[in-house]
Amino acid sequence: MTDTPEPLLRARDLVKEFAIPGGGPLSRARRFRAVDDVSLEVRTGETLALVGESGSGKSTTARLIARLIDITSGSIEFAGREVHALTGRALHAYRSEVQVVFQDPYSSLNPRHSVERIVTAPLVYQRRRVPGGARAFTKELMERVGLDPDHSARFPSQFSGGQAQRIGIARALAVSPKLIIADEAVSALDVSVQAQVINLLRRLQDEEGFSYLFIAHDLAVVRQIATRVAVMNGGRIVETGDRDQVFEEPRDDYTKKLLSAIPRIRPEWDAARRRNERARRDRERQEAVES
Ligand SMILES: Nc1ncnc2c1ncn2[C@@H]1O[C@H](COP(=O)(O)OP(=O)(O)O)[C@@H](O)[C@H]1O
Ligand SMILES: [Mg+2]
Repeated sequence: MTDTPEPLLRARDLVKEFAIPGGGPLSRARRFRAVDDVSLEVRTGETLALVGESGSGKSTTARLIARLIDITSGSIEFAGREVHALTGRALHAYRSEVQVVFQDPYSSLNPRHSVERIVTAPLVYQRRRVPGGARAFTKELMERVGLDPDHSARFPSQFSGGQAQRIGIARALAVSPKLIIADEAVSALDVSVQAQVINLLRRLQDEEGFSYLFIAHDLAVVRQIATRVAVMNGGRIVETGDRDQVFEEPRDDYTKKLLSAIPRIRPEWDAARRRNERARRDRERQEAVES
């Protein structure tokens, strides 16, 4: 027996059906199954990547887990509790423990709110005290995600796409989540910016120990961040495994097909990653010398 700890999140037999519009009042409403019997686990401190082509049901799965939409059937347990049965304070608590970072930072950040207002909003909404006051709290978070803390009064449109995505990440961090769902969070970014944001996500996870459900259609991105990979096709999970197993020895034909579509060489990424890693090692060495 291996002593596998209880997973942080366990979804079992998840189903989500949407009504197809156009079924008249007399005909039985036709329904479309966007998520079809999905079971998955996310363990503490790991990154489960959910991959699959557009329309395979990844975002719907994410929305079910974040409790943004109701399940048709199945169950989702988070830290041992049934998510879709939570109410009141327990639901509030869940909404800070699980944070979502979306693909388009500009549409997920209120354009009329300053960074300070954006990143402190989740705490204000939950009537929680902002540690150290809103200004200092925001500046510290901005530093942690690699933004200039002097820009805390600026608005989202004054930042680049990569920087705006860092604001979304800072907002998620503000409530000390246990799980961050990143739904195509780096997909809209340029390749070099993408690599930087992935490095940031990995560093934050090292520091905080939270888990990611990392959703992406780009397998080259997934390879840089995943601990394990679940492959979705047509609403179903067709394969789950450790990253290296899925990439090196895929079992499912659909997974093989997806993998064969990855461009083999992304030299810019390798270069960027090497640069970042070198800079990080240098920083760490510097800090070790100084302390
Ligand atoms: N609110 C909705 N109403 C009807 N159909 C939906 C809704 N949301 C998603 N779908 C459909 O469910 C399928 C899966 O969508 P989605 O989960 O967004 O896929 P992915 O994120 O993998 O691209 C798609 O066919 C999509 O059109
Ligand atoms: Mg999606």
